[in-house]
Amino acid sequence: MTTTATKGKASAPAKIILFGEHFVVYGNPAILASINRRITVSARKGKEGKVTIRSDIAAGEFEGSTFRLIEGANARATLEPIYFAARQVLVSRKQPAGTGLEIEMSSDIPYGVGLGSSAAALVATIAAVEELLGKTDRKKICESAIEAERIIHKNSSGADCYVSTYGGMIFYSRGEGYKKVESKSDLFMVIGNTGIKHNTGELVSSVRRLKEANQMAFQGLMAQSKDICNQALNALNSGNVDHLGMLMNENQLLLERLGVTHEKADELIDIARSSGALGAKITGAGGGGAIIALAASKQDSERVAAGIKAAGYSAFEIEIDSKGLVVN
Ligand code: PMV
Repeated sequence: MTTTATKGKASAPAKIILFGEHFVVYGNPAILASINRRITVSARKGKEGKVTIRSDIAAGEFEGSTFRLIEGANARATLEPIYFAARQVLVSRKQPAGTGLEIEMSSDIPYGVGLGSSAAALVATIAAVEELLGKTDRKKICESAIEAERIIHKNSSGADCYVSTYGGMIFYSRGEGYKKVESKSDLFMVIGNTGIKHNTGELVSSVRRLKEANQMAFQGLMAQSKDICNQALNALNSGNVDHLGMLMNENQLLLERLGVTHEKADELIDIARSSGALGAKITGAGGGGAIIALAASKQDSERVAAGIKAAGYSAFEIEIDSKGLVVN
């Protein structure tokens, strides 16, 4: 017999894409890692027919197709995928129609800048509701999160949900799934945040248009990106961080060719490099968002973060998270 709890709680990590964003949408490999920033979600049974969701940035109540704003700009659009994901669990677990839920989320992940906050929110929400109903299954949680993420952008590669669910560093491709990657050397990494929120769906569509307008050139970029990912895998396995940094810079050149970079991201990348980073690039969809820089030592990464902060932007050092989804 399955027992049900009065509360389900789960947390899931943010992520960085070290190599291969955008090209991963078309079946190429990408290297990603989950990082030590998390979103925590708790779920309880709520009032009949109502699903209430409260996060740090928005709150609202769904009842069927109606939405009641509690607070926050763009609350409905922000919360709808979470609602969809929670409803999906209720349906798949054959809960009576009209089962209400109260979902609370708190997060230390900057959102809308390519650090995987929406994927982490979906993974943690699905896990919390599953836990409330008495059973969780990582594979199913990951698949449901990808399905819900496709409401946000329909061509999602699924990479964000995989890394947030399973944690650590992964080599991922749509066709072949993921395999875990271990770095032989410590990776000292810094995130710089332009503060400019991006729309992943729009950026993915702009890359698609570019691809359709020039298939040959795009295939050339795909081949280069794949080669960079394979070289990066070797560099990680052998602990060659200098080469890894160089490959990040090469990857950034490809992102420039895709037109997804942004003057503020370029500025942060320049600051990171001139402050001693081995390499720096956009992480995620681009169009502003966040950049990631790799340094040779803790002192160097502190210097890179200080350089970015001195220019008036936010920056923080990160560590790779090995846990992924945690249900408690
Ligand atoms: O939403 P972001 O910024 O984390 O970007 C997702 C990464 C892309 O490769 C651009 C899209 C995808 O689905 O993999």
